[in-house]
Amino acid sequence: MSERFDLPRRPRRLRRNENIRSLVRETHLSKDDLIMPVFITAEENVKNEISSMPGIYQYSLDRVDEELETLVERGITRVILFGIPESKDEVGSDTWHEHGVMQEAVRHIKKQHPEMYVITDVCFCEYTSHGHCGVVDEEGNLLNDPTLANLQKQAISHAEAGADMVAPSGMLDGMIKAMRTGLDEAGHAEMPIMSYAVKYASAFYGPFRDAVDSSPRFGDRRAYQMDPPNTREAMVEAALDVEEGADILMVKPALSYMDVIQKVRERFELPVAAYNVSGEYAMVKAAAEKGWIDGDAVAYEKLLSMKRAGADIILTYFARDLAPMLG
Ligand code: PBG
Repeated sequence: MSERFDLPRRPRRLRRNENIRSLVRETHLSKDDLIMPVFITAEENVKNEISSMPGIYQYSLDRVDEELETLVERGITRVILFGIPESKDEVGSDTWHEHGVMQEAVRHIKKQHPEMYVITDVCFCEYTSHGHCGVVDEEGNLLNDPTLANLQKQAISHAEAGADMVAPSGMLDGMIKAMRTGLDEAGHAEMPIMSYAVKYASAFYGPFRDAVDSSPRFGDRRAYQMDPPNTREAMVEAALDVEEGADILMVKPALSYMDVIQKVRERFELPVAAYNVSGEYAMVKAAAEKGWIDGDAVAYEKLLSMKRAGADIILTYFARDLAPMLG
């Protein structure tokens, strides 16, 4: 047997069949890790597939129950809602209206699907005529502190409609402090905040902006969202949100920012969420449609990698379709 070498270490021993592989598996992906984004429009009788996001729809409230029923049946019981209002204005006042699209959506879903945990995206870009994430001045600069006051109104209004969690995504300085104090003073001290703590000015949001018509009408978001080359700055952002009272820290996007997910996980004790964004979804769908990759297998591997990097929670458009493959 001259082909047998003297190798004391043979890692392949633990890979011989699925039974042993699953015994030594270090990372697991489960339905309990996932949050499904859902787009709600204020119009009626709408189930509109987003062309750059096959399998993802804008729903009106009279059509959304089928989607929610499927999610619940498949064990996906957390959603994050994005609203497409009937009309937009300079400040995005639909966001704090008792009968705004988000408030109506929360009330409907909590009533029809009480098992669903409903998280609201707290932002202005879908609701402002200019498409920026808050109040802007004549030159088009996003004004930080005037926007914070509106954020408080929005968060309180979501809480009053019955949301389970609020998730501010505007990357304003002090947004967590403003929301925490606003919520506490209004009697919502129990309301958790998932902060989009580390959100980059990314080209991967393209399909989302089609989905909710939120592209800025002028300029871009680089004066408030983070510059992609930076990681130390990400630690500053996350540390501030911890101090200000965030309950969960999110990194967004996920796939190109795995190093950041890992660092946030190592440095902070709060749960870490990763947002597997629209462009990341669209790329997989497009390549799979061409028959170039196995879409489900690639999606699974990507989500698993986010967990391996340190994410405890993943927001992903794949949640509904991958759920049957998960434990
Ligand atoms: C802002 C918001 C965005 C996303 C989630 N919240 C878009 C943006 O910052 O332009 C992107 C999500 C995705 O791309 O899937 N309200």
